[in-house]
Amino acid sequence: MRDANRKIHLFANWKMYLNFDESVALARELAQQAFSFGDESSMVLFPNALSLPAVRQEVERTPIAVGAQNFYWVERAGATGEISAEMFKAAGCEYALVGHSERRHLFKETNHDVRQKLEAALRAGLIPVLCVGETHAERQEGQTKEVLEAQLRAAFTDLAWPADRQLFIAYEPVWAVGTGEACEPAAAGEMSGLINTFVRGLMGDVSLTLLYGGSVRGGNVRDYVGLPGVQGVLVGGASTKFDSWMEIVRAVKGGVRF
Ligand code: PGA
Repeated sequence: MRDANRKIHLFANWKMYLNFDESVALARELAQQAFSFGDESSMVLFPNALSLPAVRQEVERTPIAVGAQNFYWVERAGATGEISAEMFKAAGCEYALVGHSERRHLFKETNHDVRQKLEAALRAGLIPVLCVGETHAERQEGQTKEVLEAQLRAAFTDLAWPADRQLFIAYEPVWAVGTGEACEPAAAGEMSGLINTFVRGLMGDVSLTLLYGGSVRGGNVRDYVGLPGVQGVLVGGASTKFDSWMEIVRAVKGGVRF
């Protein structure tokens, strides 16, 4: 069997772009194609919470997995409107996004909140996909490295990582998310190297997979998955339409180098 770590990971963050019917329809189209994607890549869909069980049902007999976009870190509580990691797990989720830039910036999630969520995802048996990245202003001020290190330190210091759990970290510069202005591949590669070294320094030999996210399209995806150490992409806008998502899938399939 191919080592799961050698695959190219294609993660589709549908955000709040698709309603229930659109989510189910796209999942159905992808499920019909799923066996043609090949085993060079793995695909995870992150639909909105209300559509998730139906999306999961559509992809159930395929290699496509589903994940939570967001959750609360307490298992059960008087926490009106929230959904726990355990509830997502019970709904068939395998993965969970943690610390996405829209959560950090639109919803003011702090590094402390992100840590709570990371721990909750681990307790619930979910595979966390931690997102880190600097804002435009932080980049302009030359603070990118410090910001990334602070986010990673808060997430991982003294965290007991389960030996059998994979860890995904997506480098997603905030200014590149949803803007059409993707990060220079060389800079993304440099930051990924830095993240890799820093996380290994904090946690030792964990099963770490690095992704890039921020305005990925069919036309640029190979620039990122071709970078040393980068094994996939987290895609928002271009993952919400069958044609643009398939462009990415095909570009990766055509360009896998093992
Ligand atoms: P984008 O979003 O592909 O629309 O830039 C990326 C993300 O939110 O993960």
